Amino acid sequence: MKQNNLVPVTIAGIGKYVPTTVIKNEDIAKIVDTNDEWISTRTGIQERRIVSGNETAVSLAVNAANDALAYAGITPEKVDLIISATSMPDNLYPSCACEVQAAIGAVNATAFDLSAACSGLIFGLFVAKNFIMSGTYETVLVVGVDVHSRFLDWTDRSTCVLFGDGAGAFIVKKSDDGINDFLSVDIHSDGTKGAELKIPLYGKNCPLVEPNDEKKQFVHMNGKEIYKFAVNYVPESILNSLSLAGLTIDNLDFLVPHQANMRIIKAITDRLKLNTEQVISNLEKYGNTSTASIPIALLEALENNTIPDSSLLALCGFGAGLTWGTAVIRWRAKDKRKIK
Ligand code: ACO
Repeated sequence: MKQNNLVPVTIAGIGKYVPTTVIKNEDIAKIVDTNDEWISTRTGIQERRIVSGNETAVSLAVNAANDALAYAGITPEKVDLIISATSMPDNLYPSCACEVQAAIGAVNATAFDLSAACSGLIFGLFVAKNFIMSGTYETVLVVGVDVHSRFLDWTDRSTCVLFGDGAGAFIVKKSDDGINDFLSVDIHSDGTKGAELKIPLYGKNCPLVEPNDEKKQFVHMNGKEIYKFAVNYVPESILNSLSLAGLTIDNLDFLVPHQANMRIIKAITDRLKLNTEQVISNLEKYGNTSTASIPIALLEALENNTIPDSSLLALCGFGAGLTWGTAVIRWRAKDKRKIK
C-alpha cells in the first residue's frame, strides 16, 4: 500500500455519544447464567450502554456528529462528504449517512454508508484521507455507529455480555496550516474467515418459489478464532502504518485500540512491548461499542488530559469481514467546544 501525502490532512474534530441506559454485569446475570466475576476477568467489561425508547442508530450518530462539528468549530454546511461506518443501520435504505446529513443540515454534503464492522471508522478514515489527498473534498465527517443490543441473542451468554451501543465521529480536513498530521493509514481484509464473526441478514425468497421460515438475525462468533486473528494480525498493521509514516514503535506515544476485550488489548500491547500507560482503554464502562469504540476511548482520554498535545497516536481497529487497520496521527486538534 502506498501513501501519497499530496495534500496535507488533519483531524480537526472528534465526537462521541452513548445511550443513557446503563446495563451492569449483575443485570445480565438476571437473564442468563453468568456473573460479574466471569465477565470482568475474561473481558474487562463491567457495564455497557444500550439503546431504549426513541434512541436509534441515527439518533446516536447525529449526537456524535454534532459533537465532532462543535469540537472542530465548523458548521454543517462546510461538510463535503459524510461517511457513516455502520453495520447495523436503522434501514437498509436510505443510508444512515443520508439520514445524518438531513438531521444535521449538511446541505452541501454527499453521503454514503461503509460496512467494515468494528474496523469501520479506520476504513472511513482511509477513504476520507484519500479523498482529501486527491483534492476531491476538503472536509469529511466520518461517523461510526453500531447498536449491537438489537442484534444479540440475549439468551446466549457467550456473546450478549460483550457489546454495548454507541457512536463516535471524526472531522477530517485539508490542513489549514499546511501541516500533515494524519500521517498514514493501513487497512486489510480477509473474506475467507468471514464466517467466524457474522450477523446474517435473512431476506426471504418469494413464497411462490419456496416456503419461508423464521430465522433470527443475531451475532454469531467464534471467540477463540477472533482472539487469535486480532493478536496475530493487528500488531503487524500497527507497525506497517508507522512504517508508512517513516516511524517505528519507539516513536509511538499512545495506542488507541478497538475496545473488544481486555485480553486482546493486553496481548497486542505485550507483542509490541508497549507500557500499559501507553494504551488507552475504557472498556469497563462501555463494553465493545464496535465501530464507535476508538473515538469514544480517544475523546474520553483527551477530556481527562491523559493525552498531551502533539502526541503520536496509533488507532487500530479489527473486526468482522475479517477486517483490520491502523491510522497514525499526530494529535494537534484543539477542542473548540471549550471556547465560549
Ligand atoms: N458467563 C459464564 N460462563 C461463560 C460465559 C459467560 N458470559 N460465556 C461463556 N461461558 C462459559 C462457556 O460456556 C464455557 O463453559 P464450558 O467450559 O463449561 O463449556 C467456558 O465459559 C469457557 O468458554 P470459552 O468460550 O472457552 O471462553 P474463553 O475463555 O474463550 O472466553 C471470550 C470467551 C472472552 C469471548 C474469548 O474467546 C475472547 O476473548 N474472544 C475474543 C472475541 C471477542 O472479544 N469478541 C468481541 C467482539 S469481536 C470484535 O470486536 C472484533
